[in-house]
Amino acid sequence: MNNRTDKQPASRSSLQAFLAEQESRSLLRFITCGSVDDGKSTLIGRLLHDTQLLMEDQLARLTADSKRFGTRNGELDFALLVDGLAAEREQGITIDVAYRFFSTEKRKFVVADCPGHEQYTRNMATGASTVDLAVVLVDAGKGLLTQTRRHSYIVSLLGIRHVIVAINKMDLVDYDRETFDRLAEGYRALADSLGVENVYCVPVSALEGDNVIGASDNTPWYTGPSLLELLETIQIEPPEATDAARFPVQWVNRPDQNFRGFAGTLVAGTMRPGDEVSILPSGRRTRIRSILGTRSELEEAHAGQPVTLALTEEVDVSRGDVIVSARDPLEAADQFAVHLLWMTDEPLLPGRYYKLRLATRTVNAHIMEIKHKVDVNTQQELAARRLHLNEVGYCTLATDEDIAFAPFDQQPSLGSFILIDRQTNATIGAGIIDFALRRASNIHVQHIEVDKESRARIKGQMPRCLWFTGLSGSGKSTIANQVEKRLHARGYHSYILDGDNVRHGLNEDLGFTDADRVENIRRVAEVSKLMTDAGLIVLVSFISPFREERRMARELFDENEFFEVFIDTPLEVAEQRDTKGLYAKARAGKIPNFTGISSPYEPPENPEIHLQTVDTDPDELAERVIEILGLER
Ligand code: ADX
Repeated sequence: MNNRTDKQPASRSSLQAFLAEQESRSLLRFITCGSVDDGKSTLIGRLLHDTQLLMEDQLARLTADSKRFGTRNGELDFALLVDGLAAEREQGITIDVAYRFFSTEKRKFVVADCPGHEQYTRNMATGASTVDLAVVLVDAGKGLLTQTRRHSYIVSLLGIRHVIVAINKMDLVDYDRETFDRLAEGYRALADSLGVENVYCVPVSALEGDNVIGASDNTPWYTGPSLLELLETIQIEPPEATDAARFPVQWVNRPDQNFRGFAGTLVAGTMRPGDEVSILPSGRRTRIRSILGTRSELEEAHAGQPVTLALTEEVDVSRGDVIVSARDPLEAADQFAVHLLWMTDEPLLPGRYYKLRLATRTVNAHIMEIKHKVDVNTQQELAARRLHLNEVGYCTLATDEDIAFAPFDQQPSLGSFILIDRQTNATIGAGIIDFALRRASNIHVQHIEVDKESRARIKGQMPRCLWFTGLSGSGKSTIANQVEKRLHARGYHSYILDGDNVRHGLNEDLGFTDADRVENIRRVAEVSKLMTDAGLIVLVSFISPFREERRMARELFDENEFFEVFIDTPLEVAEQRDTKGLYAKARAGKIPNFTGISSPYEPPENPEIHLQTVDTDPDELAERVIEILGLER
């Protein structure tokens, strides 16, 4: 029992002294990479446990202080020690990485602990995007595995320059020096080919504790430092090469009418009150009025510090913007060449929309083209039309808004991103930006003075997109045709985009694989947007089997402009009608990927208009559409 904690709870000033002492120590962020049963958890457990014993006294005091200041219902609040870290876990975005904290006299450490088996690579890449060093575990009995190569490839892709190779389970190979030397040499060759500069190999037994904290008697032939000694002493250069200020805005802090501050962590450079800054991507300039630190107002903020900025003018700044030094601003662009690691079972489909998160900004994005994928064993470049789980590809990517960024090799924190599934919010890809495509920065949106409203006004109508979706043979085209006849008779200007027709021209290069259907819908959605922009009422009649692409189409339009019309005909009925004889062929195995038979159809969940065709004829259904849209005139 610790007297000091029980009888005299630490005062606020002693906590501050403790924090100040902590702050003066450098922080090392690292990740452990290994396969399932090579002892990763044992190793982390041992590090945490053994260093915690050393720290127990201080921790006991901190527990009391956490209670006193009520930060987290009396639970130990490690965020007190590592300010700003908690902010990394974004709401609503699943990142299966637990950050664990430990500390010694010399340094404090954050280790990204990534549980899981199948999805391990995904977790690893997510955790790795912000770390200084990787500990790669190699099972002395098994040697270097494909997993080791894959993880090392990701480590190099993410620009991690220091790798400690913990050659583990040395007890199972009788602490054999030759085994160690052979694996160390093999790993060094691998690291060389990947361009990882600093490699340190240590023979350990996580289970027995050999060379984890201190030197082991079992390996008299090894005279180098223990794992912990390495972690404590390896010199880490700051990852950001620039000294220009970069501040991604995490959130806007508006406690009352009089104060509007922008909270976040300064990722590079320094900032002082009075500095001229540029807000990206808008490019608006202003000055810093004041800088609030976690405890007081600051004369100067440094890279790594969490702060709140107040600006001299009331300018528009939102979460995700980057405030940068005006004398050395960042670029903004919307098309990039990237290296992407795909981390989920469903393959990457070029053309499909995903959420992209870079620093604090989240936008919609899609892959335009996979240039090649990389074989992680040989680093060979292979042709690919999709990326599967754990594959790395070199791709072009487009975002639907400009984002401020830096190439990854210049500034990792503003050059790496994750891709997020828009339905499940799971992290499904991690990537780095190699450069922005020049064509993006040289194409500017032309300001056109005659706009959609004026074009629609002289037609005497409101532009609309009626999006008919349903199985092949469900009656989409028939009903769309009846609707257009009625519109035309009433003097409306309209156009029908029909799958069968568009596939003879604009989309003649596309077939019926998932990837081709995604691209088919992306193109027709863009065309229908142009048509509404021209002031037309456009009727789109495509199977459009995937929810995600229909949602993408919807998002292109203004509110109340897009109407999803579900032509609901059960498969049996469509198949019975078989107007084009395609179901018979599909059943006979003559048409692969046929919707409803060998390729899925995802019915709409909340269509604006839901038409059941079984008991009602197309004329009556078309009449109903006109009524619902209020286009009776
Ligand atoms: S979508 O799925 O990409 O939206 P789209 O509406 O353009 O499909 O084209 C569907 C039409 O192509 C069908 O009405 C049918 O006539 C024809 N077709 C040919 N092969 C297939 C197939 N494998 N699956 C569905 N439709 C097919």
